[in-house]
Amino acid sequence: MKIRIINGPNLNLLGTREPGVYGTQDLESVMKAAVEHGRKAGVEVDWIQHNEEGAIVTAIQQSKGVVDGLVLNPAAYTHTSVAIRDALQAVGIPCVEVHLSNIHAREGFRQTSLTAGVCVGQISGFGAASYRLGIDALIGQMKNRG
Ligand code: DQA
Repeated sequence: MKIRIINGPNLNLLGTREPGVYGTQDLESVMKAAVEHGRKAGVEVDWIQHNEEGAIVTAIQQSKGVVDGLVLNPAAYTHTSVAIRDALQAVGIPCVEVHLSNIHAREGFRQTSLTAGVCVGQISGFGAASYRLGIDALIGQMKNRG
């Protein structure tokens, strides 16, 4: 089983970006822990990060037939992107949306996700562990399907 983690804009700044909200670990170390978590569960995990909406759309399209599941943190595009939602719906790859922060406990504009409705579900508020929980959720989903 292969899982791809897709990270949206500004997540390349993890560690220095609002550490009180997003933690002090940089993206590389958060992803390293997620890849290792997958490996222990017998799953191959790779990851990417893009600041551009179109690059995320392309990455979702190119994941079809290549990976079995997606863990997606669309970051700010969560709240704005019909294009990312449409791409997820078009490819039909099971996807778990994750957020480091609890978007439902934050500003009103963050409390709506345009993408969660086409995902298996959403995990929000567990910091770096949100990615690991996302991987576990996808594995559980695959087992239920299989
Ligand atoms: C985020 C939450 C978003 O509202 C925000 O724009 C981000 C990060 C999170 O992981 O908590 O960039 O997706």
